Amino acid sequence: MKVNLFILIVLYVVYFSILITLGYLSYRMPKFLKGKSDEATSANEEITTTSLNYMYTGMLLAILGILVNTYLLVQGSVLESHFMEWLNIVIRLMHITFGIAWIGASFYFVFLENALNRTEDVRDELAGNLWAVHGGGFYYLEKYKVAPKTIPKHLHWFKYEAYFTWLSGFCLLFVVYYFNASAFLIDKNVMDISATQGILIGIGSFAVAWLIYDTMCKSRLIKKQLLFSIIGFAILIAFAWFYCHVFSARAAYIHFGAMIGSIMVANVFFVIIPGQKEMVRCAKLGIPLDPSLGKKALARSLHNNYFTLPVLFVMVSNHFPSTFGYEYPWLILGIISLGAAGVKHYLNLKEKKDLNVWILPVSVVILLAACFISAPSTNPYECKKEVSFAEVNEIIQKRCVQCHSASPTDDANKVAPNGVMYDTPESIVAKKDLIMQRVVITKTMPQNNKTNMTDEERNTLRCWIEQGASLK
Ligand code: HEC
Repeated sequence: MKVNLFILIVLYVVYFSILITLGYLSYRMPKFLKGKSDEATSANEEITTTSLNYMYTGMLLAILGILVNTYLLVQGSVLESHFMEWLNIVIRLMHITFGIAWIGASFYFVFLENALNRTEDVRDELAGNLWAVHGGGFYYLEKYKVAPKTIPKHLHWFKYEAYFTWLSGFCLLFVVYYFNASAFLIDKNVMDISATQGILIGIGSFAVAWLIYDTMCKSRLIKKQLLFSIIGFAILIAFAWFYCHVFSARAAYIHFGAMIGSIMVANVFFVIIPGQKEMVRCAKLGIPLDPSLGKKALARSLHNNYFTLPVLFVMVSNHFPSTFGYEYPWLILGIISLGAAGVKHYLNLKEKKDLNVWILPVSVVILLAACFISAPSTNPYECKKEVSFAEVNEIIQKRCVQCHSASPTDDANKVAPNGVMYDTPESIVAKKDLIMQRVVITKTMPQNNKTNMTDEERNTLRCWIEQGASLK
């Protein structure tokens, strides 16, 4: 789609004007309102917060407009992939930062709950307290059994970390997988679907997963912890299996993580925060609290706690082709998720000083099983004869340089992926270990086997590398 340059310039002017005006107002308005009335009334404060929220939303939309505009401007030129790469960098950094803030707070509060001193010197209205030293200062925290007599005016809510992690994660899913669906999302050897179908299946699956999970939580099953965990885990494996039979293995892993991450955020948005709002409302009106609200929120936040390690693994799994490159990628995903959740369980028990000798070793054995199962077979084929470089070069030119070249001819990869180029003999020899890893052992290259490489060719490359990768 080619857009009229004049229209783009007009849009730029509009977006930037909105951005600058709102930026200025958001900076001036709080001071202005405060200056007007000496007593900072709560009504006044509420107006300020609400209008600030509208302004930030407006600014966010203006930035989004500027990004779309810029994309339309560079689309089709050499700058397009550069623009996408920087979009990727910025969003990924945001995603990691929000994610750390969210998971960090979640770990911290679960730790607090587990480590609370509940017996010594605890006032009647308190559930417990904790002394801590950090960053050169002493901290003393108290947890209330129900709620304090008066709800303080400034109450900090932990929620935006979760929402922004999810929003940035979703943007990243689009930038990496959905905008490049033919290269990264879809593997025609797995299932031949269109980009639109792939995206709809991906997003739809998140909603379905949440409905199943939420229904399970609202049923009587929630009372039977062990059964709940077993059934929940079986359903997770089913999702992993499903994703691996629809998407490329790499994209399947990310979708598994995004699905669990979406459940975690939905827990915050639909259950934990509304529950807390209701608790605050009751406390303010002085009506008795429904104790089930707190319990429900606690159960969901405990589930989130167990989800964290598996999700973190998935988020870095792209770097480990030996995991998603395994013949049954969903199996490795299931095993690692189980082992990682087991490690989290051990840590939780340890914080409660409720040590169980078996959980950590069993979890480690489970994780090692994934390592063991995915190991390559040491010698699948015989090398019949000395392989010449000419043979190797022919294979590489036929199967790889379409993408890995100074000037790729591939429809989706316009610059050499990860800077890997195979235009000269030296560059092929220099990357021989990576070739072994990606082409022979994990078979994750050529990407989605787009260039139809045969097992025989893979074996020829292996023999050449094992024979010393000479240029003769
Ligand atoms: C259709 C395009 C395409 C083809 C064909 C292709 N690759 Fe790749 N390759 C990619 C992409 C995209 C990446 C980066 C993403 C990834 O690591 O999975 C990549 C990454 C790699 C890496 C990892 C580099 C690193 O820094 O970790 C190696 C090695 C590699 N390719 C080797 C090969 C070899 C050898 C062939 C031919 C047998 C080949 N590729 C064919 C697209 C392709």
